[in-house]
Order: sequence, then structure tokens, then C-alpha cells
Amino acid sequence: MDPNPHFRPVALAHASRLINHGPTVLVTSAAGGQRNVMAAAWSMPVEFDPPRIAVVIDKHTWTHALVQAGGGFALCLPGTALVDLCFAVGQVSGRDVDKFARHGLQARPGPVLGMPVIEDGCAAWLECRRIAEPHTEQAYDTCFAEVVAAAADERIFRDGRWHFDEANTALQTIHHLGGGRFVRPGGTLQAGG
Ligand SMILES: Cc1cc2nc3c(=O)[nH]c(=O)nc-3n(C[C@H](O)[C@H](O)[C@H](O)COP(=O)(O)O)c2cc1C
Repeated sequence: MDPNPHFRPVALAHASRLINHGPTVLVTSAAGGQRNVMAAAWSMPVEFDPPRIAVVIDKHTWTHALVQAGGGFALCLPGTALVDLCFAVGQVSGRDVDKFARHGLQARPGPVLGMPVIEDGCAAWLECRRIAEPHTEQAYDTCFAEVVAAAADERIFRDGRWHFDEANTALQTIHHLGGGRFVRPGGTLQAGG
């Protein structure tokens, strides 16, 4: 499929800003000709250079198996228009159903690893290479990864910054409060002046 014309590459030095404010993300994965998507509320930047992130991926998920096999994943940031989709893909396993087919999800291969990146309805994506940490991965569900490519819809993220306003509410990131209830950024405050 064609890239979304509104998407622009994000400098890796700014990649941390895409998830610094705690959006719920879609974790997409691919290996051996199969692909999958799940929701994750728990992700965060952990290092600037190289840009590294952590995301909690329960060991029982199919995503975990595909990330181990495929060596990476993408974090795609759904906008408010995808809130139902985001919740739905967080409640069933790709072991039982092809979630891309069920929801008519369009994705294209990311530029470095070929992980599925979803652009329509999303504000941004980060393509990430798994960092193998056998001890951590055995003891915890936390997965560390290096961001190898990132892009964002210029209508909401440009010049290395988020721009939330009334014109882009459909693309604004969603933040899980629990039980399928989400909040979107309701306003911005500028410190220092
Ligand atoms: C809003 C929401 C947030 C979630 N956050 C996480 C998370 O941070 N980590 C996680 O392991 N599972 C999380 N889940 C659960 C997974 O998305 C769920 O287990 C999913 O069905 C796994 O799919 P899979 O087996 O196809 O990989 C969340 C679910 C929802 C609905």
C-alpha cells in the first residue's frame, strides 16, 4: 500500500518525544510470513542516543512470540478515531484470529526491518529492533528495543514537537485510564514564559 502523504520522517534524536507523554500504542509484529497487532499502554523512552525504548509485552501473548522470532516490532500511535480498534485488538489474541483481516487494517513494511506500520488513523509510528536480553526477558515482560526509524503525521507532529489543537482531534493520541476508558490530551501548558 502507498505511504500516507501526511507522514514525514522523524529524526531519531526526537523519537523519544513520540511516546514521552504515555500514549497507548499498537504493537505490530511480523515473522515467518505472519503478522499481528496488540494494544499496549505501557511503553516509555529509556535512552536518547541511540534512541531506546521499553515496552511491556506479556510473555503469554502471540506478539511476544513474533517479536522473539522476528527481531523487532513497530509502535503505532492510534488517534482518537481508532479507539474502538485499539481496545478490540487488546482483547483477543492473534493466535485465534487474524486481527489485520478482521479489522481491515492496512499496513506497509517499515523502512528498516519491514515491521508492519499503520498510518491511516495513526499519529505516528516507531520501528524498533529488539535488544536481546535473555535474563530480563526471562524474568520480566519488559522488552527493550532500539528505534531504527520513525515517522509522524505532520498535521499533529512537526518540527520535533506535538501540536494538539481543535483541528486535529481525530489524530490525537489516546491514553488508557482502565476498563476501555481513554483520555486524549485536553490542552497544553507552556512552562517558563
Ligand atoms: C488498552 C489496553 C492496553 C494494554 N496494554 C498492555 C500492555 O502494556 N502490555 C501487555 O502485555 N498487554 C497489554 N494489553 C493486553 C494485550 O493487548 C492483549 O493481551 C492482547 O490480546 C495480546 O494479543 P496477542 O496475543 O495477539 O499478541 C492491553 C490491552 C488493552 C485493551
